[in-house]
Amino acid sequence: MNDKFQKAKELTEKYGQQHLLAFYDELNDADKEALLDQILGVNFELVEELYNNAKREEAEGIKQEGEITPIGCVVKDSMPAEELDRYTQIGLEEMKAGRYAAVTMAGGQGTRLGHSGPKGTFFIDIEPKKSLFEIQAMRLAKKHEELGVYIPWYIMTSRENDGATRAFFEENSYFGYDKDSIFFFVQNMLPMIHNDTGKIVLCEKGKIKEGADGHGGIFTAMISSGAMADMKKRGIKWMFIGGIDNVLVRLCDPCFLGYMVQSGKLIGGKSLIKRDPYEKAGVFCMRDGKPYVVEYTEVSDEMANAKYENGEWVYGDAHILCNMFNIEVFDVMGDKGLPYHTAFKKAPYMAENGEIIAPESPNAYKFEAFIFDAFNFFDDMAIFRIKREEEFAPVKNKDGEDSPATAKALFEGCGKDIW
Ligand code: UTP
Repeated sequence: MNDKFQKAKELTEKYGQQHLLAFYDELNDADKEALLDQILGVNFELVEELYNNAKREEAEGIKQEGEITPIGCVVKDSMPAEELDRYTQIGLEEMKAGRYAAVTMAGGQGTRLGHSGPKGTFFIDIEPKKSLFEIQAMRLAKKHEELGVYIPWYIMTSRENDGATRAFFEENSYFGYDKDSIFFFVQNMLPMIHNDTGKIVLCEKGKIKEGADGHGGIFTAMISSGAMADMKKRGIKWMFIGGIDNVLVRLCDPCFLGYMVQSGKLIGGKSLIKRDPYEKAGVFCMRDGKPYVVEYTEVSDEMANAKYENGEWVYGDAHILCNMFNIEVFDVMGDKGLPYHTAFKKAPYMAENGEIIAPESPNAYKFEAFIFDAFNFFDDMAIFRIKREEEFAPVKNKDGEDSPATAKALFEGCGKDIW
């Protein structure tokens, strides 16, 4: 412990973060140990770099780098039925041959929804009530019924919700799915930083406030956790990666898979036409000739409203976190990870006098990587435009748009029949 303490002390002094040990002597042994482990796990150099970037962006605004141009897409609905059948057959063969896996990203904090456990444990008020995890398990079970094989299901959690997620699956007997076909892996976390001082947020006397490193943390997490190696060992060639919070997500869509197989491309993303110019979804485009998504917070007014003469949006294909990747993407991308974007959030913190302050306005930076930054590693990708009402019912907010109520209505519309 002394050795660890010494190392932690040196590190915090080197990087001007001594406040992290200010209450150390007041902690019991277990909490002391946990705090030292947290400190030794922080990449202080990265933290410093991210803070400096955030301050620069704050002063200069976020600059959209590179030349943004439109990207093409295929529209599922306008393809002939025989073509779609052909893709479906190809996709089903891949699934039956064990070359396909579904990946669910469930490491987010779900702050907007305000649910206290992992987002996947949130129940949608359909008849009978189902949790978001169960809805996805149900879709996988249906494929098993149809094909006679269990599609491997990889679930990304965070250090914050991993235990609760695993316990929920255990309590619910894995929703009847094959336990040995479900794999949990944990994504990384990064400390939150006070925006005015650059100090790492201490949320309790012995605890650094950390946040999951964004859905873009998935690639490094798959490498470090062994999930990628496991897929390779199993001979998996394609993985669908989606979020936990879309009750219409098609985890095993043979048509999309078949389309990808014949396309010769390594990555593909489902899109749908944005609801209005300012819908809170990123839009597909090209940046410097490579596929890219501009996040909604970074879309300019001009870009949001640009239309062709026929009235269609120039940048109208919204990204809905339904993407397909060939396993070879890991060879192209390496293990460096994706760039971090800055969010500005409210983070309760421990003041110097030991009092916990709940700020009324954002006070801390949180850093997140976005999965779609991976697209920019490739020259080309397939954009597969589908119908919103059939495949997109996100659960983001407590009420209003994209809430449990809107998701329930969409699920009752056609979700119960969608596999
Ligand atoms: P969102 O970006 O909507 O975040 O995640 P969220 O955590 O669910 O909700 P807010 O923003 O805190 O309200 C979209 C999907 O990506 C996953 C989420 O679990 C969700 O399935 N995600 C997000 C992760 O797995 N890890 C992250 O670090 C962030």
